Amino acid sequence: MMLVAIAAVAAAVAADQLATGAAGRTGSVAADGVVLVTGATGRTGSLVYNALRNARGPHGVRALVRHRAKARKVLDCTECDEADGVFVGDVTHADDLEAPFAGVASAVILTSSMPYKLANGSWTYPPGGSPREVDWLGQDNQVAAARRAGAQRVVLVSSMGTTQPDSPLDKLGGGYALFYKAQGELSLLSSASALNFTIVKPAGLLDEPGGRRRLLVGRNDELARNRALMTVPRADVAALVVAALDARAPSNLRFDLASDPAGPPTTDLRELLTEARRLW
Ligand SMILES: *[C@@H]1O[C@H](CO)[C@@H](O)[C@H](O)[C@H]1NC(C)=O
Ligand SMILES: *[C@@H]1O[C@H](CO)[C@@H](O)[C@H](O)[C@H]1NC(C)=O
Repeated sequence: MMLVAIAAVAAAVAADQLATGAAGRTGSVAADGVVLVTGATGRTGSLVYNALRNARGPHGVRALVRHRAKARKVLDCTECDEADGVFVGDVTHADDLEAPFAGVASAVILTSSMPYKLANGSWTYPPGGSPREVDWLGQDNQVAAARRAGAQRVVLVSSMGTTQPDSPLDKLGGGYALFYKAQGELSLLSSASALNFTIVKPAGLLDEPGGRRRLLVGRNDELARNRALMTVPRADVAALVVAALDARAPSNLRFDLASDPAGPPTTDLRELLTEARRLW
């Protein structure tokens, strides 16, 4: 219930920004055109998709999902079919990406490999779902599809922690998830001449309401020195992603995102993005 409320707030903010954006300047096509959210049925992806759908209506947002049944459960779509903007596909198959990316102005990449625990306590990844396949090659495929589609802006949610080789997360299931996520960021970074990018690298994700913490931006995992700051609610990540889609928001950014539960809540997300730019 709480998450729904937060998503609604994010949507209201987005709607307000879009309304002024459309009227206020030329070149705000990225804000006005269709946005595709991949990984849309994930816990963060569904928050982003539902906020955008709420703000832009069914013609303003598309979803790429692997299972339509899950889309019907967690997304605010009606038919949840292609006519309703919900596409079924796998990012490791480049052919699956043509239709969902066709004609989009911007894309939010929220796909991620997902480890799971075996009965004996070991962790593993599903066949075809390793970090190498999803976080590197799948990311590459998505950036290539965005470029072919002529998209202007791509927001990628990656992960903090990529400066530490052989981290516990890398070792999980032998997947080297953070190593491959850093590799996946590169295809987007090297497309900077063709599209505007925002790479958000969040700390540990929490399923709790957003809008209550002071959000912190950093670089090179420097925020990780203080363990007390090493989490961030998914709802805050989702709200920042929505803010980053606005054509007036600063872009060509790559930054860590964490939070201080004790700090005053961050209210101006565009200012936070501006601060992320100043870091570099
Ligand atoms: C658990 O099972 C998997 C698959 O059968 C195996 O590869 C792994 O080595 C096992 N882990 C332990 C700790 O025994
Ligand atoms: C990137 O953003 C700037 C500023 O909003 C805009 O002028 C430029 O056209 C954008 N680049 C692309 C490739 O859309």
